[in-house]
Amino acid sequence: MANRPLNVGLVGGGGGAFIVNPHQKAIFFDGTRRVTCGALHPDPKIALSEAENWAYPIKGYTSYDEMLEEECKKPVGERIDYALIVTPNHVHFDPAKKALEKGIPVFCEKPLTVTLEQSDQLVKICKEKNIPFCTAHTYLGHWSSRFSRHIVRSGLLGDIRWVDAYYIQGWLSERTEDTGNMQAEWRVDPKRSGASGCGGDIGTHAMMQLRYVTGLEPVKICGYMETFVSGRQLDDHFTVYAQLNNGGRAMVRTSQICVGHLNDLGIEVCGTKGSLIWRQEEPEKVEIRLNGQPDRVYFRGAVSANDGFLGDLPEDLMAEPTIPAGHPEAFHDAFARLHRCFEADVRAYQAGTYKEADGSKYATVDDGRFGIYFITKVVESNANKNAWVDI
Ligand SMILES: NC(=O)c1ccc[n+]([C@@H]2O[C@H](COP(=O)([O-])OP(=O)(O)OC[C@H]3O[C@@H](n4cnc5c(N)ncnc54)[C@H](O)[C@@H]3O)[C@@H](O)[C@H]2O)c1
Repeated sequence: MANRPLNVGLVGGGGGAFIVNPHQKAIFFDGTRRVTCGALHPDPKIALSEAENWAYPIKGYTSYDEMLEEECKKPVGERIDYALIVTPNHVHFDPAKKALEKGIPVFCEKPLTVTLEQSDQLVKICKEKNIPFCTAHTYLGHWSSRFSRHIVRSGLLGDIRWVDAYYIQGWLSERTEDTGNMQAEWRVDPKRSGASGCGGDIGTHAMMQLRYVTGLEPVKICGYMETFVSGRQLDDHFTVYAQLNNGGRAMVRTSQICVGHLNDLGIEVCGTKGSLIWRQEEPEKVEIRLNGQPDRVYFRGAVSANDGFLGDLPEDLMAEPTIPAGHPEAFHDAFARLHRCFEADVRAYQAGTYKEADGSKYATVDDGRFGIYFITKVVESNANKNAWVDI
């Protein structure tokens, strides 16, 4: 059946989990994907009962090993078409590797793994098998991120001199991990979170946004990993100054202790002719400020391909499904756009026509690996009195 919905199997997501929720909404968004099964919890009994009590019928498995094993016994069309991994960071590598080895495409939460060696292994398997892999850098999925990427890369702003990429939160400004908050509890534990707390959790998002929008890469970095809340083993404040491969400079500044900040992720790109400003808390709006011209504010849904100023806009950007302007799109739509683009690659993979994703539609396994490499380098810089290190 050509238009059958793709089947998605969840790894994690039970027991009051967070990020599974936007993902599953995004999976059902277009009617062309659905969740069919899951290994929802590390405790086999809880995993089954959580599946039993899921909001709609899904097949529960006691573990992801069992899920992958049993699903692969089914014919294509009945088995899962891709696995979605929404577990804490230390449970990304093993299910991802096992799924890929069985030929199942993987949509995996960030940060990709807890060690660089694990990330390298995932990259290697993906290349060898030419199999789709998405690293869930949500904010790339906003239409306005795609638009910003086009504007910056079109040269409208001139040569890029300065990029400020940030993600500022306040939810860990106290010992949230002692209050029974399950999301905080594992994030401050190096065994489950990785070598950096704040950096791994949200620094990777800010760095990915910088690379995605500008197309620039850091070549040298100097990093500070700081911990403001006493008793914590990992950083809750993570700041990186970077030299970019075009000679420009950038700051990746992230924090989880800034009271009053929620999910204050944004990017400001400053070139020789102008600047672009985007904030995910107002995700439909992109500001463009050019020397000697009035400031321009573009809204998703109200951008026309021939406004006489932007020049031609890419056809695929204008063809992205969105709803009419004034009906706001946000976080869930961004997730849906990532799953929609990933679905296209999974269908191509099944048809034998998949070509390695170029990172323009979603973050790839290489991008996920870069995030871990970046963290490794910041750890190195921080341990060496904030020395500059080559990337
Ligand atoms: N892309 C984003 O914007 C975004 C936002 C939040 C979290 N995340 C990432 O998503 C992942 C999950 O974060 P969260 O906040 O949803 O965590 P969470 O603690 O809310 O949920 C984790 C889930 O994994 C399950 N789990 C743990 N070990 C398991 C195992 N061995 N087998 C099966 N299930 C297991 C838990 O039972 C729980 O259901 C993390 O890697 C995090 O960095 C990404």
